[in-house]
Amino acid sequence: MGIEIEPLHPLYGARLHGVDIRAPIGDEMFAQIKAAMATYAVCVIGHDAPPSNEAHIAFSARLGPLQRSAQKIAGTGERVPYPEIVDQSNLDEVGEIYADDDRRLAYKRANRLWHTDMSFYDVRATYSLLSAHAVPPSGAETEFTDMRAVWDALPLSLKDEVAGLVAEHSYWHSRVLGGGPEPTEEERRTRPPARHPLAHVHAPSGRTALYLASHVCGVVGWPQDQARKLLDELMSFATQPRFVYAHQWRLGDVLIWDNLATMHRATPFDDRLYRRDMRRTTCRERALA
Ligand code: OGA
Ligand code: MN
Repeated sequence: MGIEIEPLHPLYGARLHGVDIRAPIGDEMFAQIKAAMATYAVCVIGHDAPPSNEAHIAFSARLGPLQRSAQKIAGTGERVPYPEIVDQSNLDEVGEIYADDDRRLAYKRANRLWHTDMSFYDVRATYSLLSAHAVPPSGAETEFTDMRAVWDALPLSLKDEVAGLVAEHSYWHSRVLGGGPEPTEEERRTRPPARHPLAHVHAPSGRTALYLASHVCGVVGWPQDQARKLLDELMSFATQPRFVYAHQWRLGDVLIWDNLATMHRATPFDDRLYRRDMRRTTCRERALA
């Protein structure tokens, strides 16, 4: 049986009908999912109930080598005890909404800045798969922008300026920008910055994409103020409403996005009152030794 593709935005994004990641998926259907991802960059697969952690991990592993978290932020609990799953909820280890002063909550709010996942690592993230286990009654949409469409629309003068530039991405830069506390020296050492070209060819589609994120803290070889000016200009250009798709979550949705072709951000909701239980797996460009 083939899958049916329902586009979600004029430029990218699709809902895939006829797919259920809780059931076995044959090679042919899997190839169709990959092809849809190459074209649409953000794909939603709906389910009548959230897939188990095991099904989520097994499906994700077919899309590439999975990130396994070696170190956790100090104090992070094990509510979802799988190294392949990043707990993106507002819940502590016993499933209660975080206390106001929990520094994990402060760090998670960095997700509200436009970013692409794990650009602060040398080996970048390809696909992220976010699964909705509990959804608040309103707010908490996840917004996307397609960085290939952004590149296509970028004025020629900016394309010329960006071509050949290398940006530095730091995890701690966006944590602090998002209102989180200054990391300890020890924490800083666990995640040193990484360097990546500001523009690159997105291999699955063959299209050029801007590779930007709030993790970016500088341009290699450029003075800080000049770099900041260019980065801010690119960020405002890339996040114009015409490029944005806002996903309204339904329980059981599994959203796949291509980090090498998009940026995304979380949007606010009453995180003191409502539970939001989101779990993410992340594929990387290659397996780590
Ligand atoms: C993520 C992320 C946004 C959200 O899981 O990587 O940025 O809306 N999530 O939870
Ligand atoms: Mn993210």
